[in-house]
Amino acid sequence: MSEQTVTKRGCFITVEGTEGVGKTTNIAWIRQCLLAHGIEPLQTREPGGTELAEQIRALLLSPRDEKMAELTELLLVFAARAQHLAQKINPALTAGQWVLCDRFTDATYAYQGGGRNLDKQTISTLENLVQGELRPDLILILDIEPELGLQRARLRGEPDRFEQETLAFFNRVRAAYLDRARQNPSRYLIVDASQPLDQVQQQIKLGLDNFISAGDTAI
Ligand SMILES: Nc1ncnc2c1ncn2[C@@H]1O[C@H](COP(=O)(O)OP(=O)(O)OP(=O)(O)O)[C@@H](O)[C@H]1O
Ligand SMILES: [Mg+2]
Repeated sequence: MSEQTVTKRGCFITVEGTEGVGKTTNIAWIRQCLLAHGIEPLQTREPGGTELAEQIRALLLSPRDEKMAELTELLLVFAARAQHLAQKINPALTAGQWVLCDRFTDATYAYQGGGRNLDKQTISTLENLVQGELRPDLILILDIEPELGLQRARLRGEPDRFEQETLAFFNRVRAAYLDRARQNPSRYLIVDASQPLDQVQQQIKLGLDNFISAGDTAI
């Protein structure tokens, strides 16, 4: 029998939160923290992450006159995710590389589930179909009053299709994120993103250091 080396799957870390909480800003910081531990993660984002999935992202985000049906939105999100997993995330994790992703399926439960009120069971069925058993090992939720996040996001320019939603929508999104974290606290790190950036970063670093030293993430 030929000898086989089994590579331990890389850890999968995702960063979540409503608009403008600082996901993209802090992904760069998380990368630095991981590098300090000798871990070079694959950094990516959703929706998107591959050429085709980025085209689906553009469909999802661009404002249009024709109303996108809620189910169309949900299926596009998962179509992009299937492509991203097949082309990028799964091969990296299988090769033992860590993956750091700006939004993932928690965002689907929060935006399409909480925000749009789509049935959680439908989302869960698609999650199982598209991901199999894969779930993130650590989910960082940057939590903020949606209004404050939207103010930050709007400084960047024209609002995308989601940024045009009401405050009530984003309050439901936020509540859905926090609800998921409450149901499975060991996988979630919640950081108050209304704090100055250096304090947000300090707390993220603490959480990551704990996660790494907790053990079965062996590098
Ligand atoms: N803790 C903070 N305090 C003040 N400003 C911040 C903080 N964190 C990020 N910002 C600023 O807020 C803006 C939005 O940050 P960023 O783009 O990282 O958010 P995001 O969550 O990725 O947004 P989006 O949901 O639109 O992708 C940026 O201008 C960033 O510099
Ligand atoms: Mg961003």
